[in-house]
Amino acid sequence: MKALTWHGSHDVRVDTVPDPIIRDSDDIILQVTATAICGSDLHLYRGKVPGMKDGDILGHEFMGIVAEVGPSVTAIAKGDRVVVPFTISCGDCFFCGKELYSACENTNPSRGAILNKKEIRSGAGMFGYTHLYGGYAGGQAEYVRVPKANVGPLKLPAGLPDAKVLFLSDILPTGYQAVINAQVGQGSSIVIFGAGPVGLMAAACARLAGVETIYMVDEHQYRLDFAALTYGVVPINFADVDDPAEMIIEATDSRGVDAAIEAVGFEAKGSAIETVMTNLKLEGSSGKALRQCIAATRRGGTVSVPGVYAGFIHGFLFGDAFEKGLTFKMGQTHVQKFMPILLEHIERGELNPEVIISHQLKLSEAVAGYEMFDKADDQCRKVVLTPN
Ligand SMILES: NC(=O)c1ccc[n+]([C@@H]2O[C@H](COP(=O)([O-])OP(=O)(O)OC[C@H]3O[C@@H](n4cnc5c(N)ncnc54)[C@H](O)[C@@H]3O)[C@@H](O)[C@H]2O)c1
Ligand SMILES: [Zn+2]
Ligand SMILES: [Zn+2]
Repeated sequence: MKALTWHGSHDVRVDTVPDPIIRDSDDIILQVTATAICGSDLHLYRGKVPGMKDGDILGHEFMGIVAEVGPSVTAIAKGDRVVVPFTISCGDCFFCGKELYSACENTNPSRGAILNKKEIRSGAGMFGYTHLYGGYAGGQAEYVRVPKANVGPLKLPAGLPDAKVLFLSDILPTGYQAVINAQVGQGSSIVIFGAGPVGLMAAACARLAGVETIYMVDEHQYRLDFAALTYGVVPINFADVDDPAEMIIEATDSRGVDAAIEAVGFEAKGSAIETVMTNLKLEGSSGKALRQCIAATRRGGTVSVPGVYAGFIHGFLFGDAFEKGLTFKMGQTHVQKFMPILLEHIERGELNPEVIISHQLKLSEAVAGYEMFDKADDQCRKVVLTPN
């Protein structure tokens, strides 16, 4: 079959690779009908995440038709159309029992990215996300093996096109969890750092929750313009405004917003020193966007972090967070928990995640898709790939 494979920094290729096979009795083989490129894939593409091997198949946002089922799969059957969460979870462990699916203790035989690990078990394995997270082959391919198929894949009703439901695999639940973690609702004010797909999904879910004012910060004016038009955000371009947090404080009676959502992650731009230190591995992550979140949030407010972080940040103003009495909530999304309710919102027309798609390409054109999304060329917001 054809699949998008990783060969090093900025080197991905569409290769012919062996077809996946059923290995465990609760596996399925999925024929992929649509798959997307995620901001998390860009961290891999840029060679910023350890644990990749030459030829690894990328992709953790995918859906398709069940082609084959293992003997103990009961939840779905051959021929079903399903969307698959990026977190692989067993459904039985201590954490799955609490619906903390991305903390599942039984699906990642590797160590994860945690530094001060001691004896704790690893969190959930993930598709196409390095050998630190289990080395599972990803779904930017014609076929993919899906383990734990009684727990993850969500059966889809007929009539909803792939584009409407594909983002249930990751970015829609991620935006939704970010808003729940932000502890906001009717009449609240928030700022979202990052106008990429995750920031845009967070804006959509914030509107659904009744949030009144949404500031959004990015340097790509076309992404901000789209968010202003689609979700009514107040755009702030950090290429023009040196200190967005200061501007937000001025606009909120010298208080700050109720919550900040950090949808950028460890490659945040804006601090040349931190970017150099992170590249030299002297710093785990760039703290620029996180510091802005702390500065822009009012006393007693919440900083919600869906953006991916790794290791340490020296310039983390913990004292300011303490003095303001902030709450922090973060982490990989518990996708399985939120998929059913989000599908209902899509069916009722309350969420239309497909509007953020800017490019629909063939899997054979995936390399160009990566280049474009990485450089934010051609007004790229989100790339969807179809294998056939
Ligand atoms: N928690 C989860 O489960 C989960 C799931 C999906 C994605 N993610 C993470 O969410 C983050 C965003 O993903 P995405 O797909 O939207 O990626 P993306 O790269 O398309 O978007 C990031 C945006 O942040 C902007 N940005 C860079 N520096 C900034 C700064 N200092 N201030 C404000 N904006 C800045 C960029 O211009 C870009 O538009 C990534 O770190 C990704 O790995 C996490
Ligand atoms: Zn993702
Ligand atoms: Zn589990």
